[in-house]
Amino acid sequence: MASLLDFNTNLSQITGETTLLYKDIARNVEKTKRIKIIDFGIGQPDIVTFKRIRDAAKEALDQGFTFYTSAFGIEELREKIAQYLNTRYGIDVKKDEVIITPGAKPALFLSFILYINPGDEILLPDPSFYSYAEVVKLLGGKPVYTNLKWSREEGFFIDVDDLQSKISSKTKMIVFNNPHNPTGTLFSPNDVKKVIDIARENKIILLSDEIYDNFVYEGKMKSTLEDADWRDYLIYVNGFSKTFSMTGWRLGYIVARRDVIQKMGVLAANIYTAPTSFVQKAALKAFDTFDEVNEMVKLFKRRRDVMYNELSKIKGIQVSKPNGAFYMFPNVREILDVSKLDVKSLAIKLIEEKGVVTIPGEVFPLNIGKDFIRLSFAVNEEVIREGVQKIKEFVEEMMKP
Ligand SMILES: Cc1ncc(COP(=O)(O)O)c(C=O)c1O
Repeated sequence: MASLLDFNTNLSQITGETTLLYKDIARNVEKTKRIKIIDFGIGQPDIVTFKRIRDAAKEALDQGFTFYTSAFGIEELREKIAQYLNTRYGIDVKKDEVIITPGAKPALFLSFILYINPGDEILLPDPSFYSYAEVVKLLGGKPVYTNLKWSREEGFFIDVDDLQSKISSKTKMIVFNNPHNPTGTLFSPNDVKKVIDIARENKIILLSDEIYDNFVYEGKMKSTLEDADWRDYLIYVNGFSKTFSMTGWRLGYIVARRDVIQKMGVLAANIYTAPTSFVQKAALKAFDTFDEVNEMVKLFKRRRDVMYNELSKIKGIQVSKPNGAFYMFPNVREILDVSKLDVKSLAIKLIEEKGVVTIPGEVFPLNIGKDFIRLSFAVNEEVIREGVQKIKEFVEEMMKP
């Protein structure tokens, strides 16, 4: 007889949402030591969803739009998303090449379920968003990491030779994320093209997560959708969480070839039936709020500059200026070497002694992150100054001979 503890064996390899762990440590420190917490760990804009979107949700509710929708989402929103992408990138996505999902994470989940067979190798950047590897392992796939290279002057970039060398007969999919969490990198159009070429030439699925595509401070955002042959290999994931500051609403989408979207719909119907009805109506209005989005991005650019300037003054920290998303990923190797701490212990000590929450880079597997910490600049300027000042004091204490 099966025991209640006979869980899915793949679960033993899953670690869960590790970024939240550091918030828990901070809560405990706040309570027991009464230290004020400054949270650079957060992964969402700190702006309440724009009024026009909130009003549209209320209106949809008042009109009784409360029933299941199609598993693919409402037609008007699928159409609106296709139009938005077509205008932005000069392409020709059709509405039946779009499926609406309850967030980008479920979109990623559907994409992984659709393709992964046990033993399949899935190429992930190192470092990368923690949940890719977890879901791949859950489904019996094998994460294979390809290094991003880093220099202080150039920041992170794709190591094309490394990526090529990791492709084997078992490679099923390459996961790409641009702009990139956790490094804040906006990959160059040339790097994007190289990734596309590798996927196309090797007949490998390219799963491209472009959820930070509106948080671009310098440079040009090249989408994988801009390749004329995208239908041959691309699963494109995006969502409303970051661009319209709608994290709690849970809404995302996938663009892929029509027959792939049909299969996604079957999975969706069996897993969650449909995305939330009135949230989809509200999202129609989101596309009218790009003035607000642009203001938010300008604000984030100022915050990025403040955080970058202040962090750059700290001896022992090497930081590159990120061009996208809202994360900074400074190298702290020198501090680790002097203090003989690993990055996880360093992040915990920083919370315990100064109340400043950062995320140790090793949360974003596998190896590269062991020299880095992630800070989010989705917090106000004063808090950024105060928090970085505390980091400076902390580092000075750690680096004392
Ligand atoms: C790279 C990346 N993809 C996907 C997500 C999840 O987005 P959503 O809130 O739409 O599920 C996040 C959220 O932090 C992210 O950083």
